[in-house]
Amino acid sequence: MRVPVEVWIIWVQEERAVVLGKIIASALCITVCITILKQSQSPSYSNLSSFSQHELGVTHVLVTGGAGYIGSHAALRLLKDSYRVTIVDNLSRGNLGAVKVLQDLFPEPGRLQFIYADLGDAKAVSKIFAENAFDAVMHFASVAYVGESTTEPLRYYHNITSNTLVVLEAMAAHKVKTLIYSSTCATYGEPVKMPITEKTPQLPINPYGKAKKMAEDIIIDFSKTTDMAVMILRYFNVIGSDPEGGLGEAPQPELREHGRISGACFDAARGIIPGLKVKGTDYKTADGTLEIVGIYNVGTGKGRSVKEFVEACKKATGVEIKVEYLGRRPGDYAEVFSDPSKVKQELNWTAQYTNLKKSLQIAWKWQKSHLNGYIHS
Ligand SMILES: NC(=O)c1ccc[n+]([C@@H]2O[C@H](COP(=O)([O-])OP(=O)(O)OC[C@H]3O[C@@H](n4cnc5c(N)ncnc54)[C@H](O)[C@@H]3O)[C@@H](O)[C@H]2O)c1
Repeated sequence: MRVPVEVWIIWVQEERAVVLGKIIASALCITVCITILKQSQSPSYSNLSSFSQHELGVTHVLVTGGAGYIGSHAALRLLKDSYRVTIVDNLSRGNLGAVKVLQDLFPEPGRLQFIYADLGDAKAVSKIFAENAFDAVMHFASVAYVGESTTEPLRYYHNITSNTLVVLEAMAAHKVKTLIYSSTCATYGEPVKMPITEKTPQLPINPYGKAKKMAEDIIIDFSKTTDMAVMILRYFNVIGSDPEGGLGEAPQPELREHGRISGACFDAARGIIPGLKVKGTDYKTADGTLEIVGIYNVGTGKGRSVKEFVEACKKATGVEIKVEYLGRRPGDYAEVFSDPSKVKQELNWTAQYTNLKKSLQIAWKWQKSHLNGYIHS
């Protein structure tokens, strides 16, 4: 998908106090929820056997970052498809409410457990691997904001590159041989030729893309020395929510400042922010695969400009969102969209939801019924 600029959210001073209050309330709520969840899931915690032993016919998947946007949707799909799921998340960005939704949908013992842990803590990660019999890892956990990465590069290299190393080392030590890694179109940087195929040279232009590219390189190098099966999925910009209405995208309020376009449009439509600030209007836009490593672009194959996106968002929400066009922001790309033919040919995967307005309508429905994200939902 082509995203020439990122939306920058108007952030008025008076709102900070309100938001701060909400953050404190959320923090308290999360603490209470963790306690409740730990108690409510104590049967599966005390009965560690179902998670700590391999079971014939059951694939146990560790979903890192499973409280986040994409990770929670992936966990939902895994659970629906009868996988056993362990979510590990430090809740720095995700929502315990998403885990609660999943637990309510799949309350049976041995289906889902949540472990609150930071992947930067190698000892904790090693303990999790020692106590659980994982068959595969889907690694979603990450900080993932292009703009933030340009102002806090070390955080990005640590959280993305270094934590991936921690996960890989734990997998190697505990002989977990399947890894699906969440990478990004940001690893391609700003290619001259569109659409982007998996052979397009990776020349990332911001710390987020560079950290992900480094993580990819580490994974690929390691896979050459082992029999680990690896898949690297490079997502293009993701929008939408679970059509059944259970899960959605609910970034924490303080992250609105770094806003992804999807969330920012909805925030503007809901009047949480007065309008959108689109950074950059002068971009030139129309308005070695290894034996056991699969690398795939995951996208629709269609590029959308921010202007197109904003128009679709206005239509989906029925709100005349105020838009202000500003100068460029460091680290953004003019045009990035995928050629998804390889994933279609080799995995028979195609994006099901390609109608932008429809996808936004589904996401908007979730937003409207979850005005405080997962809190009180
Ligand atoms: N959303 C997109 O459009 C998009 C596009 C391309 C790639 N991706 C990639 O997909 C993955 C998921 O993205 P998302 O949009 O769901 O992000 P998200 O912020 O909603 O979810 C990330 C999750 O990881 C958790 N996390 C972060 N650091 C952690 C740590 N040190 N230990 C444990 N948990 C930690 C967060 O709490 C959060 O729940 C990321 O790797 C991201 O780079 C996302």
